[in-house]
Amino acid sequence: MYTDLKGKIAVVTGGSKGLGASMAERFGAEGMSVVVNYHSDEEGAKKTKELVEKAGGKACAVKADVGTEEGIKALLDKALEEFGGLDVWVNNAGVENKAATDELSLEDWQKVIDTNLTGVFLGSQCAIRYFLEEEKQGSIINMSSVHEKIPWPTFAHYAASKGGVELFTKTIALEYADRGIRANCIGPGAINTPINKEKFDDPEQYESTVSMIPMGRIGDPEDVAAAAAWLASDQARYVTGTTLFVDGGMTLYPSFQYGEG
Ligand code: NAI
Repeated sequence: MYTDLKGKIAVVTGGSKGLGASMAERFGAEGMSVVVNYHSDEEGAKKTKELVEKAGGKACAVKADVGTEEGIKALLDKALEEFGGLDVWVNNAGVENKAATDELSLEDWQKVIDTNLTGVFLGSQCAIRYFLEEEKQGSIINMSSVHEKIPWPTFAHYAASKGGVELFTKTIALEYADRGIRANCIGPGAINTPINKEKFDDPEQYESTVSMIPMGRIGDPEDVAAAAAWLASDQARYVTGTTLFVDGGMTLYPSFQYGEG
């Protein structure tokens, strides 16, 4: 627990399930107030709101598409209206779909870039504008992936979006460091959330994924939520422009694990 987080206000995008829900719950346990964004799953967002409240925080759910300026504005407006401010903005919403690049439609490319990259730009910009206006030393956390570094055949649009998130985040970290605004990425490996359900339900794909993780297990959403709480807290006050990988060692060239290769 980080005592400085108590009473702070966060926006978490894509909070109806998966990592967003888990981070919102952890923020609740830290005594924070959370604007839980959802895109279409109102029921999921309601459940997250309850989880936050049960954990000890306050929450409200807001429907918005992160790829639009109106959607992002609605999230800030709600944070101000309901809780009276903003301290932490987590750009977590993300989508993916498998497609060979020679078959990838422009529509699918656009959807992934709009959500994963433009959403991060719009959310970060909105938070930065507010922090500057209020002279607040806020924290921005952007959900990238191990695929900000590792190429991923048949997910070129996803890898491109996450690579973009990495350099975008480093750039804003540098641009606003002298104003005390921090911006970091979390780079999850393979975590047990709905985005991976189909893959992990197939024993062969599950085993093949585990074999790429030196620590030998799929991650839990709580592993990522713990990183988010730390990055949001004053304990990380000198940390900006970095990616904190939460991946059980997936980015460490697993094929070299036992000295072979
Ligand atoms: P998920 O599929 O469980 O949740 C994604 C959330 O984003 C959902 O709540 C969905 O409704 C929301 N969303 C999608 N489009 C949206 C839009 N236009 N506006 C607002 N919300 C929208 O996925 P998960 O696993 O929780 O992923 C969260 C983030 O973590 C994503 O950015 C993903 O790329 C990233 N990530 C996840 C990994 C994993 O293994 N689960 C690994 C690496 C990165």
